[in-house]
Amino acid sequence: MSVTILGIESSCDDTSAAVIRDQLLLSNVISSQDVHKQYGGVVPELASRAHQANIIPVVDTALRYAGVTIAEIDAIAYTRGPGLLGSLLVGASFAKGAALTLGVPIISVNHLQGHVLSHFIKDEPNAIHPSFPFLCLLVSGGHTQIMLVRGPMDMEIVGQTIDDAAGEAFDKCAKVLGLPYPGGPVIDKLAIEGNPGFIKFAKPNIPDLDFSFSGLKTSFLYTLRDKLNTEPNFVNEHLPDICASLQQTIIEILLSKVEQAVRKYRIKEIAIAGGVAANSGLRTALQLLGQKRGWKVYLPKKQFTTDNAAMIAIVGYYSYLAGKTSPLDEPPLARLPLG
Ligand code: KG4
Ligand code: ZN
Repeated sequence: MSVTILGIESSCDDTSAAVIRDQLLLSNVISSQDVHKQYGGVVPELASRAHQANIIPVVDTALRYAGVTIAEIDAIAYTRGPGLLGSLLVGASFAKGAALTLGVPIISVNHLQGHVLSHFIKDEPNAIHPSFPFLCLLVSGGHTQIMLVRGPMDMEIVGQTIDDAAGEAFDKCAKVLGLPYPGGPVIDKLAIEGNPGFIKFAKPNIPDLDFSFSGLKTSFLYTLRDKLNTEPNFVNEHLPDICASLQQTIIEILLSKVEQAVRKYRIKEIAIAGGVAANSGLRTALQLLGQKRGWKVYLPKKQFTTDNAAMIAIVGYYSYLAGKTSPLDEPPLARLPLG
């Protein structure tokens, strides 16, 4: 018997709905909110309002694209957290209301588990996925973690940032350079033309598998300030080099911890996930390192790196198979622990 899941994601600034039948993706509709661009970052109140305006048309479109009627849905999976509380509330309320009306169960999903399991979305019949156990570097605008993944429902954070996330480092440094939000994709593009060895920024020295990016931010600011004192046109003249050097530093910080995790856990199945996993420099560097070290590296398709509901639906699918549904009175949580 096949299982059809409607997934809803609204944790930050993307309203998304997806339909999955078994592991096969039937649709994945994402409405990104442009309203935040003029503010250089996500404004929570505006995000919740945009989710409210978008949620019904987005779900409607996802069902239409999937060629599925609402009556064929077996369960509704929604992001319970972590994320912006107002934004989460819109997706959670919609999912609960729809589930009550349809008489189907709801499944609350941890957003981070969604990013990790995005590797198991089948958008084509021969899609490959990591074997368990694997290590997943989860890098997004809000998170930077290494996960030890033993099974779809069994994962553990074995290292994480003690301050900023990798995506935040991209976004904040981009803002200093006068680039639009989100800065990650813009820096990625500019870096292609630049020299990654142009500037050496300070790298943190954090024990175990944890990360830190606030020192890099400070080093970036001080370096630019010093250069601008003597060369007022420094940023304009060297923008691609500055971007390439910053990106290179972030990649080195991330990959040195992945190497450490491989040594510690003796696992050579390596995946990356989250918005920063779209970064072309990081993807190439990880692939090269994997070839050198004999790892099997899994890079998610770019449409599954940034926030999307397909990854929420796939968690819903595995939860449904495990008989794990959720009560209607479970509130969304801005800080939702894993597990
Ligand atoms: O996973 P995501 O959509 O949202 C969170 O859960 O945070 O990740 C968004 C983050 C932003 O910081 C954005 O700048 C970053 O992912 N990002 C990138 C790239 N594409 C998105 N960072 C570097 N290179 C990219 N190509
Ligand atoms: Zn995310």
